[in-house]
Parts: sequence; C-alpha cells; structure tokens
Amino acid sequence: MKMKAFGFALLCVFAAVQGRSTGAGSLSTSAQISDNPWVVHLRVATSDGQGLLRTCVGSIVDVSWVLTSASCLRNARFIWVRYGATDVIRPELVTESTTVRINPDYDEETGVNDVALINLNRVLLYTENISSIDLADSSTGVSTSGKLCGYGAVEGVPGEKLNCFNVALEANEDGSFIGSSEDGEATEFDLGAPLVSDDKQVGVLTSVAEGSAVFLNVAKYNDWISEVTVPQ
Ligand SMILES: *[C@@H]1O[C@H](CO)[C@@H](O)[C@H](O)[C@H]1NC(C)=O
Repeated sequence: MKMKAFGFALLCVFAAVQGRSTGAGSLSTSAQISDNPWVVHLRVATSDGQGLLRTCVGSIVDVSWVLTSASCLRNARFIWVRYGATDVIRPELVTESTTVRINPDYDEETGVNDVALINLNRVLLYTENISSIDLADSSTGVSTSGKLCGYGAVEGVPGEKLNCFNVALEANEDGSFIGSSEDGEATEFDLGAPLVSDDKQVGVLTSVAEGSAVFLNVAKYNDWISEVTVPQ
C-alpha cells in the first residue's frame, strides 16, 4: 500500500515537470555552455524610464565584440554580459559595456536590419566555455536547419538555464529566415540569440510569434560586421 502511494507521487512530479517544460513557451532541451561557448546572456538597463531591465542573448564574434539584435539594445545605457553560463547565476565571467554599434540602416518601426554589436572594451581570453563563433558569409550555402540557444522563459519571467534546440528553416522573401520547431519555442527573452548551422552562425533571432521565429540572415551583414569589428 505504501509503495503504491509513493509510485503515484513520483508520477505526479514527473507530470508536473513535463507540463512545465512544454507548456511555458520555453526552450525545452537543456544544454551545456561548453558545447555552445559563443552564447552570452545579456541584461540591458535602458533609458526608457521604467527602470526595467531587458533580457536578451548574444554571441561572441570576436575577442572584443558581441553580436545581438538592435531591438535588444534599443535605448541601452548599460549592458551586463554573462559568459560561460550554463546557469545564468553561475557565469564564468561578467563584463559591463556602454558602447554599442547599431546597424545604421536599422528601422525601429519596421524592424528591418535588426542587428547590432556590443563593444566589450577589453580583449576576452577564450576558455573551454568562452569562445567565438565564425559567421556565415555569401559563400555559405542556404541552411535548411540550425541550432538555436538561449535561456528561455519560466512562467513569464526570463529563464536561467541554457537551452538549445533544432529549428527547421525556410527562406523568407526579404532574405530573412522563418524557423519552426517541435522541440522548443523561442521567447521574447531570447531576442538576439544565435542560430548556428555547420559551425557557423547563420542567423540572429529578431522576433518571435506563437510557434515561429524570425531570424536575420547574418551573411547579408558580414561586411558591416567585419568593418566594425576589425581594428582600423
Ligand atoms: C565549463 O562549464 C561547465 C558547466 O557547463 C563546468 O562544469 C566547467 O567547470 C566549466 N569549465 C571551466 C574551465 O570553468
């Protein structure tokens, strides 16, 4: 009798955990930062007046630069970058930045060219859990799938655990990618997150809607990124 009750309690816990990971609109597959060492967690203090912190994701593209979406850095005054974080509360390194370069053709109204770079004002030392990702360029073929990493959401607030999942991609008329996945769902707290295919970053997450995600095509911005990040 006792054994039976115990078994039932276990089943309830299992069901609750399952329900949370699939139902909360969160990324669902846990991941290690050592497999995705270019992923950084961003917290942005804005001058929007509400004193709220924005949460997004970025990628290390150079020893001194992080790539993310322009919408993530809108009205940014101060940015905390967390590196090497399988868990946001235990990063390997945290830096603070105030210098950003928003793509000059970014349009806040329409959301076109939603890409930006954060200057780290330092030179990163790469480790097992902190290193850069190569960017796709015009010679990279069109990807039909990729891996998206972020920290997701738990019950409507930013999540703290790194999660990655595969997305199927379709090219959009304007050159962006539309991603869909059975394995997870990107959230508003994952904007700026890198989409990686064949060890190259092919996309930056720029918007999310139920069941689908829109990615900026990195190859189209490769020249601008090189121009900004290569020391003059
Ligand atoms: C890298 O991260 C893992 C957790 O994902 C941790 O166990 C390991 O100690 C980290 N490596 C270093 C060099 O800090």
